[in-house]
Order: sequence, then structure tokens, then C-alpha cells
Amino acid sequence: MRIALVNLKFPDRDGDCITIEDGFIAAFGLSGRYDRAFDLNGHTVLPGAVDVHAHLREPGYEYKETILRATESAAKGGITRAFAMPNVIPVPDCPENLFAETRLFERDAKIKIYPFGALTKGEKGESLSDIEGLSAYLKAYSDDGFCVNDLSLLEEGMYRVKAVGGIIASHAERRGAADSEAAEYEAVEEELELVKRTGVRYHFCHLSTKRSFDLIRRAVAEGADVTCEVTPHHLTLDKSMIKNADWKMNPPLRSAEDVRATVDALTEGVATIVATDHAPHSAEEKARAYEKAPNGILGFETMFPAIYTALVASGRLSLSRLSEAVTAAPAKRFGTDHGRIAIGERAEIIALDTTDARRYTAEEILGKAVNSPYIGMEMTGFNAFTMVGEKVLYKASDIKEV
Ligand code: DOR
Ligand code: ZN
Ligand code: ZN
Repeated sequence: MRIALVNLKFPDRDGDCITIEDGFIAAFGLSGRYDRAFDLNGHTVLPGAVDVHAHLREPGYEYKETILRATESAAKGGITRAFAMPNVIPVPDCPENLFAETRLFERDAKIKIYPFGALTKGEKGESLSDIEGLSAYLKAYSDDGFCVNDLSLLEEGMYRVKAVGGIIASHAERRGAADSEAAEYEAVEEELELVKRTGVRYHFCHLSTKRSFDLIRRAVAEGADVTCEVTPHHLTLDKSMIKNADWKMNPPLRSAEDVRATVDALTEGVATIVATDHAPHSAEEKARAYEKAPNGILGFETMFPAIYTALVASGRLSLSRLSEAVTAAPAKRFGTDHGRIAIGERAEIIALDTTDARRYTAEEILGKAVNSPYIGMEMTGFNAFTMVGEKVLYKASDIKEV
């Protein structure tokens, strides 16, 4: 099948159309006959994003979200691959539990999903999971949602993950210092010591404080094999904006100064990866009093517009740097592939509307959950079209098949 995408923009080259043949990019131009053609309305094409931090909630928490609806929401947001965090039931801490999850990915996922294996059994931080058994099926381990505060257990986990050629994604948060900035950077500091000692490949999730980035900057300079991610919300929102539990997540929103430090970390390349920490919860849970509501906000559909509006439109971050932080950088670090918009590559293409601003609404959310602080905000840079191979996974109403 031959598919033409017309009336589009490239971020870094001239031209306004792409020919896709049997799911592969065949030409930047048009010739001959097409089976289907889409008018992309002048939008800017980029490779689909790889989100290395997502909570899909299934199996076990279907009342919050399902794999089917979460991945439809991801496709709408321009995310074509995502890593699923292991806080589901059963926790994927051994192959059998992992299969309970991956069977559902195969059945329901609309985009490519990679599972994280749990680092400790049941994510309880008491004993290590079947790291070797899991390693036949995955290379990324995390106890996200929890921090492994037992440093000798963590160190042993580092050696075992290193031995299987894996990587650990750490939710660094020192127990007992809930929500404070020190809870994060003190855990980062302790874990970095072990990373240097063991030589494990290590990735810090959702860093959010200036001190954390200073520690990462120094560790990288010292040669540690360490990376970190920043989230759209820590790049664009601060704690003075908190209105209700839809603004509650872990780590929490920080000061405006920490937001500036987070942006600097990204623009200076201390943080090389942007990931959403997409964390759906039910309306009932988020309607509770702020203190009683669970941590976590949606991220898939607002990753591009939140960052585009706050940082790209203002010239602080180029669109190609943003794209790199959600494609090449996470793919390289986590050992996956990602789409490249080049002749001969499989089509994995999204298209951002970088001209019109519009308000994000609860009604448009494709997932089951609606816990987003971005609802009601006017933003630019929404994804309008997602195509993988020959499949159109999402098409906004302004995109017409012609
Ligand atoms: O905000 C968060 N939500 N942070 C976490 O660490 C866990 C996550 C969740 O599972 O809801
Ligand atoms: Zn976390
Ligand atoms: Zn998380």
C-alpha cells in the first residue's frame, strides 16, 4: 500500500510531503498513484516519542486505567513506545508474573510497550526479585513508586543487574523525609556512591531539585554511568500553582527556582531524557481531600504541548532538542529503537500543531482517568496525527483524508 502524507513541515529540512510504502518511508516527495493520502494541515512532523516512565495500571488497577485506553491516550499524545512501571498486581518480579502483564500488552496495547521488571520482590524493598530470570525478557529494572532504602540490598541489586547487562531506574526518595527536597537529593547522593562503586548503568527518574542536578552533573564529570529524566510537570509547573489533588504527585511540584534548575538541567544536557510519569487515578480518589488523595497525574496527552508552550515557543529549548529528549536519548539509554524520519525507515511519525493554541479539556482525554492539572490551560504544540507502519493510530479532527 502507498500512503501519501501531504502539506506537512519538517523541523529541519525543506519539503512538504512523505511517501510511505508498505509501512516504510519511501520518499520525501510524491509520484504516481496512492492508495491513501492525508493532509497534515501544515503541522510539523517528528518521530514518535519513547516514554520511559509510565504507569498503565493493568493488571490489578483496572478501576484507575486500562492498557487499551492508556495506550490510545499515549498515541493521541504522540507517544508510540512506552515503558510500563511495575507497580501492578501481580508485581512483575519473576517471569510468570511478568507474563501476566505482557500477555495483556499483546492483547490490548495500541503502541509498543516495554515492561520494567521489579528490582525487589513485590516492590517491597526487602529481597531482590528474580533479576536473572527476568533478564531473558527485559533489561530495565525499577521499584518506581518506592525507593529501595536498604542500601546494602540496593548495592547487591546493582551488581546483579550489572551482571545481566541491565539498567536500574531509580525513584530516589529517602524514607521519613516525605516530600522534602532533601528526601530526593539525599537519596540521589547515597545512590550515586553505590553507582560509582558498582559501575552499574543507572537512571534517576523524575529529578526535581537543583541539588539533585548538581550531584548528577558532578557524577557524570567523574565518569559514572548515570542519566536522569525530567518530567513535563516539573519543567512547567511550580508549587504556587497547586489548586487541588490533580496537582499532587511524587516528587511534588517544587519552587520556581527548582523549576528553573530543572529547565537548565535539560537545556544544558545534565538531564538528557524527558519522561511523563503518566499516573492515572480514579476520579473518586482524586476528589478526596488533598492530603488523602494518591500521588500522580496524567502526562501522555500534554507532554508535547506543555513543554512546547513553556519552553519551545519562548525559544529556551529548540524543537529538535525536545524531540531528541523523547526519542534518540531514551532509546539509546534503554536499548530500544525509535522512529527516524528517513528513507528506508519504518514509519513512526507524529505531527505537532505548532501554530494554533487551544484549551485542553477533560472531554478530549482518551484515557479513563482525567487527573490532569493541564485541563483548562491554553497551549500550543498538541499532536494531531500519529502513524506507525501503515496504521493511523490517532488523527485530530483537522486532519483530513484526501
Ligand atoms: O506521582 C507518582 N505516581 N509518583 C510515583 O512515584 C508513583 C506514581 C503512581 O504510581 O501513581
Ligand atoms: Zn517515581
Ligand atoms: Zn512513576
